[in-house]
Amino acid sequence: ALRASFASKAQNENQNIQYHLQPQASFKVAVLGAAGGIGQPLSLLIKMSPLISDLHLYDIANVKGVAADLSHCNTPSQVKDFTGASELANCLKGVNVVVIPAGVPRKPGMTRDDLFNINAGIVRDLVTAVADNCPGAFIHIISNPVNSTVPIAAEVLKQKGVYDPSKLFGVTTLDVVRANTFVAQKKNLKLIDVDVPVVGGHAGITILPLLSKTRPSVSFSDEEIEQLTVRIQNAGTEVVEAKAGAGSATLSMAYAAARFVESSLRALDGDGDVYESAFVQSNLTDLPFFASRVKLGRNGVETLIPSDLQGLTEYEQKALEALKPELKASIEKGIAFAQKQA
Ligand code: NAI
Repeated sequence: ALRASFASKAQNENQNIQYHLQPQASFKVAVLGAAGGIGQPLSLLIKMSPLISDLHLYDIANVKGVAADLSHCNTPSQVKDFTGASELANCLKGVNVVVIPAGVPRKPGMTRDDLFNINAGIVRDLVTAVADNCPGAFIHIISNPVNSTVPIAAEVLKQKGVYDPSKLFGVTTLDVVRANTFVAQKKNLKLIDVDVPVVGGHAGITILPLLSKTRPSVSFSDEEIEQLTVRIQNAGTEVVEAKAGAGSATLSMAYAAARFVESSLRALDGDGDVYESAFVQSNLTDLPFFASRVKLGRNGVETLIPSDLQGLTEYEQKALEALKPELKASIEKGIAFAQKQA
C-alpha cells in the first residue's frame, strides 16, 4: 500500500492531475489511544494508505501535536484530533474502522493479565462510545489482555444491542508477523513467502504457532519446533525486557496493526481475496473466542478457516488442549467483568 501510495502520487504529479480527482476509496478510520507508543507509529503508517479519506486521532492527552505533525504528510487522508471524553463521539461518527491501542503496556515481570484492572475499564468505555456512535464499524482491539478485552467488547456491544461478531477483532497479527520472521530466519527462507498460521489467543501458551502448516512446506526437528514455539510465545516479553521498563512492542505492533487495517479496508473495498488472523468469536473449538485465520469481506469475517486445525501433529494437539483452560479463564474473566458493570 505504501509503495502504491507513493507510486500513484508520483504518477499524479507527472501527469499534472489534481490529486483529489484520482478515483479512490474513501474510508474513515479512528485510532483511540493515538498519542501512545503504538498509536503514533500506527497512525503514521495508516496515514500512507490511499484507501483512507479521514484519519481521526483520539487520546486523553497529547494528541493535538501528533495530529498537527501527521497532517503535513502529503498523502490523501485528512487528519483530525480529538482530546478527552467530550470529543469522543465526534471522533467516532461515520467511522468505518476503529482501532483501539489505548491503555497501559507491560513492564518487566508483568503478564498481560496484570494489565486487566486498568485496561478492562478503558476498553469498556471506548467500546460503549463505539456502540453509540459507529455501531457498524469494524473494531480492532489491540489493548491487552486481548484474551479478555475482546470478550469485554462483545458483552458491551451485546448490552447495547449492536453486537455483530463478524466485525469485532482482537489483533493477533503481530504473532503471525513474529512467527513468519523467526521461521524465515531459522530456515533461511525468503521472508515474503513464509506464512505460519498462529491460533488460540494472545498471551503466553495461548499463542500457538502451527509450524507443521508453515507455507512453503518445511520440516523442523523436534528441538526446532520447541525453540521456535517458545520464542514466538515469549516474543512480546523479549521486547518488554529489552526496553527495560520503557514499555512493550510498539513499532512491530504498529506495523502489524497497520497491515490488519489495510486488509480490513481492502475487504471493505470489495477485494475478494483477503485473509488475516484474528481473535474472534468462533466455533472452531469449544471456546467462544479463538484466534485463527479468517477470510474478510465487506461485512467483516466471512468464514473462519477450519483446515488449519485439522491434521495437527501430536505436539500441536497437546499444546492446543493445554492452552484451552487458560484461554477459557481469560475469556470468562472478561465476560464477568462486563456483566458485573452492566
Ligand atoms: P502507551 O502507554 O505508550 O500508549 C497508550 C495510550 O493510550 C496513551 O497515549 C494513553 O494516553 C492512551 N489512553 C489511556 N487511557 C485512554 C483512554 N481512556 N482513552 C483513550 N486513550 C487512552 O502504550 P502502548 O505501548 O501504545 O500499548 C497500548 C496497549 O497495546 C497496551 O495495552 C499493550 O499491552 C497493548 N499491546 C498489544 C499488542 C498486541 O499484539 N495486541 C502488542 C503490544 C502492545
